[in-house]
Amino acid sequence: MSKRNENVSLSVLLASAVVAILLAAQVNVKPAMAGDYTIGMQTKVRDIVQRNRAVAPGLIRLAFHDCWVKGCDGSVLLERADKQAEMDAPQNGGIRGLDLIQAIKDTLSLDDSTVTCADAVVYAAREACNVLSGGNIVYAVDGPGSHKDTNASSMADAGALPGPTASFANLAANFNGKGFTPRDVVVLSGAHAVGLAHRPNFEARLTANANEISQKYRNDVNVISNASPNKTAHNNVRDLDKAETEPGVLDNNYYAANLGKKVLFSSDFALTTDGAALNNMTNFKNDATMWFRLFEDAMARLSRLPAQGADVLQVPRIKCNAPNPAS
Ligand code: HEM
Ligand SMILES: *[C@@H]1O[C@H](CO)[C@@H](O)[C@H](O)[C@H]1NC(C)=O
Ligand SMILES: *[C@@H]1O[C@H](CO)[C@@H](O)[C@H](O)[C@H]1NC(C)=O
Ligand SMILES: *[C@@H]1O[C@H](CO)[C@@H](O)[C@H](O)[C@H]1NC(C)=O
Repeated sequence: MSKRNENVSLSVLLASAVVAILLAAQVNVKPAMAGDYTIGMQTKVRDIVQRNRAVAPGLIRLAFHDCWVKGCDGSVLLERADKQAEMDAPQNGGIRGLDLIQAIKDTLSLDDSTVTCADAVVYAAREACNVLSGGNIVYAVDGPGSHKDTNASSMADAGALPGPTASFANLAANFNGKGFTPRDVVVLSGAHAVGLAHRPNFEARLTANANEISQKYRNDVNVISNASPNKTAHNNVRDLDKAETEPGVLDNNYYAANLGKKVLFSSDFALTTDGAALNNMTNFKNDATMWFRLFEDAMARLSRLPAQGADVLQVPRIKCNAPNPAS
């Protein structure tokens, strides 16, 4: 064989090898199916979240507050003229990011009319976790239409949410009611590495026993939240002196802060009052990867809590803040 022919057969060989690899790869790549949360959708949602980073912690909290109350059904977004909606309950004080949920729903609906407001809440939280963790948090979520919208909301239903002065026993019982373990309480409370809180929610901590809170931290929180126009403080001690628009970083820093008695809510401090929870916190403080994986798993389960009750709709809500018209 001439040198030239040898080269030709080599390229043919290489070309067929490449084709074989591509074919093999194709077998392994799951094609996007109707009903999947696709990479294309992920890009669109992540883009909106990235452009609104200051509000991203609010989107994570929104998923907890929506999914915990009669499942992920967009109920937390509904307004009522009588101000008796879920969002009007004290548990939902400070909720934000609702306009972004509408923007996400509208954007995704251009390509897929089955996208619900409840889907948008779940997707927004997923991308907020991803963006604020610097890409460390990724979890599977169900596709468009999987999270059914509800047509109704009531203030009383927000009673399903734990309050900031809950004891560990209260928190564990509350989570158990949703099929979550005491360890999940510890894992998910780690979300308080990011975001803001309003003063009424941590007033109790400012008068807590001296052995339950760092004295310097107490003083700093008091001074900073008093000086803030909205009477807020950052959840994470790491961000205390930063602007309100700084969302923070979603990592395992919450556990170091909590073990150092530098957390805002009595419900955060409560995690140090239970032996197993304390042990979990030490492990999460020492092993960021362990916490990332457990947090992903818990968020994936939270995001699948199914919509419940007679008011669940079979079609998406048109406006996320209003019931659908009579059909
Ligand atoms: C374990 C029981 C929990 C209690 C008692 C609790 C309570 C609170 C309270 C009182 C605030 C302050 C709201 C404000 O004043 O504006 C807050 C903020 C926040 N919570 Fe929780 N929370 C709990 C669990 C969770 C969970 C499970 C998540 C999510 C996985 C979460 C994510 C957040 C986030 C991200 C913020 C900051 C929101 C913002 O910046 O707008 N919390 N939480
Ligand atoms: C205070 O709250 C309002 C209303 O939620 C918001 O528009 C504003 O950006 C917040 N921050 C400051 C520093 O006023
Ligand atoms: C967390 O605590 C639970 C008991 O609630 C225990 O079974 C589990 O092994 C602990 N996990 C870690 C990672 O510390
Ligand atoms: C949704 O609720 C409103 C009242 O808030 C009612 O008028 C309407 O008929 C309901 N729509 C559906 C589709 O159930």
